[in-house]
Amino acid sequence: MKKILIANWKMNPVSEKEAIKLARAEDFRNAVIVPPFPFLGTIKKVLKNASLGAQNVFYEERGAYTGEISPVMLKKLGVKYIIIGHSERRALGESDIMIARKVNAAISAGCVAVLCVGEPLSVRKKGSAEVKKYIGRQLRIFKNSKSKDLIIAYEPIWAIGTGKNANPEDAAYVARYIRSIVRVPVVYGGSTNSKNAEYFLIKKEIAGLLVGGASLNGKEFRKMMEIAKRV
Ligand code: PGA
Repeated sequence: MKKILIANWKMNPVSEKEAIKLARAEDFRNAVIVPPFPFLGTIKKVLKNASLGAQNVFYEERGAYTGEISPVMLKKLGVKYIIIGHSERRALGESDIMIARKVNAAISAGCVAVLCVGEPLSVRKKGSAEVKKYIGRQLRIFKNSKSKDLIIAYEPIWAIGTGKNANPEDAAYVARYIRSIVRVPVVYGGSTNSKNAEYFLIKKEIAGLLVGGASLNGKEFRKMMEIAKRV
């Protein structure tokens, strides 16, 4: 099975010129480039091989929702994947209910939803039974979902941007648990780079990686892509 690498640029880079340069360096098949919203249209034109992704979406199609972005607008811009419920957005107040509505709206618009779940350090410290309980709660609304337009990203919060990636065995264990609830591909995210990518990608339960920091470096991302192609 082909492994996917999703490049979550978050709120970087700041200039369109830099965004174009980075997109060109990361334009590989089986890569998803997820730039900030203002660059989506331009990056779509730059990409020849990679797919385009967005970092968030609203659950209504149109209307008086100042500052929000409709899934239909994203679809029209050429967005295929939408990251939803990232822990950085949950920290800003997104609830499981809002997130579920966003997932449904994204899929209805014809996009693939990349739903992020993952436990904080306090839960991880209590052991894997507690981790399963926590993630089970985040996924309860999606129980038995089989949508071909849904991917779950397992991103332990303590591993995001910290340089402390999860143990690949633990990540595979959680991915297996997730797949017992929701029958869709599971990717791992949290401090992945060209040094540790292989350990995650060789796991059959792990369909790819959601890459943050390392995706801001074209050379590093390319190395990860080469690993993804050969595993
Ligand atoms: P990181 O971010 O690779 O910088 O840890 C991953 C993510 O937040 O998606």
